[in-house]
Amino acid sequence: MTRKTRGYGESATTEERRTRRDSYSFPLFLRGGESLLLAVLVLAGAWTFALSAQAPAGDGPQYASGNNLVRPDNYREWIFLGSSLGLNYPQPGAAPGADQFNNVFVNPSSYRAFMQTGKWPDKTIWVLEFRGVGKEAVANRRGQFQTNLVGFEANVKDSRFPDGWGYFVFRDGEKSGAPLSGDTVKRCIDCHSAHTAVERTFVQFYPQLFDAAKKMGTVKKDYTDP
Ligand code: HEC
Repeated sequence: MTRKTRGYGESATTEERRTRRDSYSFPLFLRGGESLLLAVLVLAGAWTFALSAQAPAGDGPQYASGNNLVRPDNYREWIFLGSSLGLNYPQPGAAPGADQFNNVFVNPSSYRAFMQTGKWPDKTIWVLEFRGVGKEAVANRRGQFQTNLVGFEANVKDSRFPDGWGYFVFRDGEKSGAPLSGDTVKRCIDCHSAHTAVERTFVQFYPQLFDAAKKMGTVKKDYTDP
């Protein structure tokens, strides 16, 4: 090939020169200013990556089809808002049910937004896990601890629903579920409207959120401690 017999740049075609520049000049011929620029770009890239690792986009609700919510399988890696034992509002006249532990989780990016604004962003999902109560495991016999999963509910704040909220109950082994409707959802909405401190959520039972909401002035005007 003729190239062998020519010196660099002597009689190369434009195409050859372009190829050569693309393959050889970077980063071999970087000068001071360009190296600094490169270093800044690399750092900026690393920083953006670190940020996106902290707040992965799309950690909100996922839907299987239509408004059917996918039961999140990684909620135990979300933010744990709190735990309660035997906390419920019994129906007037009804016998109290067996005590259960309730564990509440929320998707991480919505938690961070709430801590800054005292409000829930669109595309927030909460999981409420019910667990059985274990007793008499140690000598003093008073300690109580969590056992097997006995129930699983999820709420979402999502503008895809007519009033901006969706309520779900998942039974054993269900991978996705349709939003509750009719009288069933009415019960969820009534209690989650009448007794909640912020929007339709029981923020009064999650101390760090309650403090943030008080600071931001987002506690409902008509909310009074129970
Ligand atoms: C009679 C009152 C009442 C009704 C009805 C009710 N809840 Fe709740 N819910 C609560 C309370 C109290 C909490 C506070 C968390 C706890 O139990 O530790 C809560 C918390 C939750 C949470 C965690 C996020 C939050 O708002 O704090 C989810 C998810 C949830 N409920 C789903 C449901 C669904 C789905 C229904 C309807 C099937 C429902 N709830 C009906 C009282 C109620």
